Amino acid sequence: MKLAITGKGGVGKTTLSALLAQVYADMGRQVLAVDADPSPCLAGALGFPDELREKLVPISEMDDLIYERTGARPGTTGGFFTLNPRVDDIPERFSVIHRGVRLLEMGAVDIGGSGCICPESAMLKTLFTHLLFRKDDVLILDMYAGVEHLGRATVDFVDAMLVVVEPTRRSLGTAAQIKKLANDIGLTRLWLVGNKVRNADESEFLSKETPGIPVLGYLTADLGVQEADRLGIAVYDHVPPLHNAAVKMAAELVAQIDNERSVS
Ligand SMILES: Nc1ncnc2c1ncn2[C@@H]1O[C@H](COP(=O)(O)OP(=O)(O)OP(=O)(O)O)[C@@H](O)[C@H]1O
Ligand SMILES: [Mg+2]
Repeated sequence: MKLAITGKGGVGKTTLSALLAQVYADMGRQVLAVDADPSPCLAGALGFPDELREKLVPISEMDDLIYERTGARPGTTGGFFTLNPRVDDIPERFSVIHRGVRLLEMGAVDIGGSGCICPESAMLKTLFTHLLFRKDDVLILDMYAGVEHLGRATVDFVDAMLVVVEPTRRSLGTAAQIKKLANDIGLTRLWLVGNKVRNADESEFLSKETPGIPVLGYLTADLGVQEADRLGIAVYDHVPPLHNAAVKMAAELVAQIDNERSVS
């Protein structure tokens, strides 16, 4: 099962990614969580201990590796380098595992249609495609922005894109844009997750104003989220209401995705 988590900045993509990753790991599934944020913080949200976090270096910052694999140094343009470097060993070699979640940091991924033709983008683009083609049991992509990472060729491999929103018109506006971009490249399996919901009015607002994306579930606003961050522990362990909501969403996704597979 391959899940891509998107949404406007700060809505709770990383919080949701960490919750779902840990839920699936505790169900005994093999989980690969990928942090595609330029300033990675999924390790913190998962409560990875410092000694493991120290071992993580975003792939985008591994200049020597990028040179070794592409034949050119990051930052150089105009020279020759390979557009499809070897990447198959990267997920195992450069990730760390904690409580059943394997975590890989990709770093700043500028591989969209921006036209950047440089060694680091060739490397990350190839790695991203590889991750989507791999036969991981559960892949969770914490994406820092819209759907720029996803090309038409990879869309078939994404089982669901979760669009995280807060109860604000602004984040719903971003969700509508994400939906359009996703639909443009043929991705229609979208789910809305309402986060930081304080009361029934807010969840009703989200369910009424959704830009045509079915609601998977809601996460309540909880001061325990910031507290967990301060204490360096996972929201999964520290905030039972969010833990429970994530368990329900994870089960619903399994049911929906397996259902769809059995129908098609
Ligand atoms: N349910 C919640 N209740 C209270 N605070 C929350 C909740 N979910 C997230 N937050 C807080 O909101 C902030 C953003 O959360 P998070 O990092 O998960 O969002 P993000 O979408 O990944 O952000 P970015 O776009 O910067 O990657 C954090 O400070 C987090 O503690
Ligand atoms: Mg984030």
